[in-house]
Amino acid sequence: MAYSHIAITGASSGLGRALALAYAKPGVHLHLAARHAQRLAEVASTARALDALVTETLLDVTDATATKAWVNDCRQLDLIIANAGISAGPGASNRETAAQINAIFGTNVLGAFNTVLPAMDLMAQQPVGLNGIRGRVAIIGSIAGLIALPTSPAYSAAKAALDFWVTASAPNAAKDGIGLSLIRPGFIRTPMTAKNPYKMPGLMAADDAARIILTGLAAGKTHITFPGWFGLFARFGQMLPKRVFAGVPRKPAAP
Ligand SMILES: NC(=O)c1ccc[n+]([C@@H]2O[C@H](COP(=O)([O-])OP(=O)(O)OC[C@H]3O[C@@H](n4cnc5c(N)ncnc54)[C@H](OP(=O)(O)O)[C@@H]3O)[C@@H](O)[C@H]2O)c1
Repeated sequence: MAYSHIAITGASSGLGRALALAYAKPGVHLHLAARHAQRLAEVASTARALDALVTETLLDVTDATATKAWVNDCRQLDLIIANAGISAGPGASNRETAAQINAIFGTNVLGAFNTVLPAMDLMAQQPVGLNGIRGRVAIIGSIAGLIALPTSPAYSAAKAALDFWVTASAPNAAKDGIGLSLIRPGFIRTPMTAKNPYKMPGLMAADDAARIILTGLAAGKTHITFPGWFGLFARFGQMLPKRVFAGVPRKPAAP
């Protein structure tokens, strides 16, 4: 399935940028959103140089009203990717602060729902396309949602919440002609992982991650987990006693 009306949040950096540029080609209308004007403008102009039609919007996905308005302004969507996310861990402390936990859940979970729920309303009004669906909604989860690692508890819990929501909602959404996809990347080289104080097995380039995601979404997969071996490792690790991970360094706290 070739998507031609595509919306991506968090398109100003890292994986969102790589996804935007991987989809950018003639005949594609990209709706790109993020908060940082200069970085977003750079991605938009690079995508235009690849002959995509690009509409960029400064957007904070924690603002439900603004996010709904942005989605509705897209008017027609084959694919939306809720990619915007933040990450942090306990740092030197044993506990994450309430402010940090609220920020992570506010952006990664509620921000994703602010994005995908209006998109599902919009898609439900669209005609069924050649691929038999009205549109596809993808959420960027993480392999961190498969294993409760002490490196970043709130982040892990937030991604697990998205994972459960997509898995539980996909059969119902399919009845409305909407495809739901949950993407579970392993470690990707982006600004988000640049400060991780530990070895990142399977660390991959954002462009390579974007290519895997495009292939999985084109095939209409509900779960796209990569690297596959790392997903299996995480599921196995989740069955082990958590003291096994006690020595793993924690992700730094939010600045
Ligand atoms: N890197 C990895 O190893 C990895 C692994 C698994 C999953 N992921 C997930 O992949 C997604 C992208 O992460 P990344 O690694 O590409 O990190 P990144 O380079 O830090 O990019 C995060 C993006 O999210 C945007 N963003 C953050 N808060 C936002 C908000 N409130 N409203 C709108 N946009 C917001 C940022 O843009 P602005 O600052 O311009 O708003 C930026 O474009 C995240 O959901 C992350 O959890 C990453």
